[in-house]
Amino acid sequence: MEKTVQLYEGKAKKVYATADENLCIVSYKDDATAFNGLKKGTIAGKGVVNNRMSNMLMQLLEKQGVPTHYVEELSDRETVVKKVKIVPLEVIIRNVSAGSFAKRYGVEEGIAFDEPTIEFSYKNDDLGDPLINTYHALALKLATKQEIETIKTYAFKVNEVLKNYFAALGVRLIDFKLEFGKLPDGTIVLADEISPDTCRFWDIKTNEKLDKDRFRRDMGGVEDAYKEIFKRVTAGE
Ligand code: TMP
Repeated sequence: MEKTVQLYEGKAKKVYATADENLCIVSYKDDATAFNGLKKGTIAGKGVVNNRMSNMLMQLLEKQGVPTHYVEELSDRETVVKKVKIVPLEVIIRNVSAGSFAKRYGVEEGIAFDEPTIEFSYKNDDLGDPLINTYHALALKLATKQEIETIKTYAFKVNEVLKNYFAALGVRLIDFKLEFGKLPDGTIVLADEISPDTCRFWDIKTNEKLDKDRFRRDMGGVEDAYKEIFKRVTAGE
């Protein structure tokens, strides 16, 4: 399978068309941004980690009954995926307080919740991805009621699978962001990526951050954190 024209370039990935109108090739970059592109940088080797890690997790999720866009890994940085129309909602699941949750509600980071939470952001860079509730999402026709129900069910299922998977690797899954897409027949599938860019991972014993927060917060050791989480994920391969 070969790339033809570039369809899209995002902050961390490029998407290419292929000879098959139902398939795309995603190419992962080392570019990193934060705060809606305000902060820019490079994380050496990130593209490889995110590509391979995301592919492994998507395959695990498929086995557990969550349909995904994943088709085939082509190389360290490139993967064939099903062409989808992205539902413009960022779906965020949280198990532990951190990030914007801690800031918005004035609580410390690290408080474990009795039940996971879900929230949605309207995926719109011009507006800065504002928080949105499902009524507003329906009003804006971003998705149907049934699609939102499906997305919620899959998102919590992803959480159950990944929470257990990472716990076995000595990693606490704090929170993460998912994006879903629609196939031409209307089927909702998990799309985008699952990586240290889109999840918060804390070491179970030390609470050390093994994710993009090290870049967002200028903590240093960014590359090493990506390497460490990747090492743990690939150890059981
Ligand atoms: P938040 O606490 O900043 O809202 O982030 C929640 C989770 O979503 C965290 O794991 C990082 C991820 N995330 C993204 O993947 N993309 C984004 O643009 C933002 C703001 C967060």
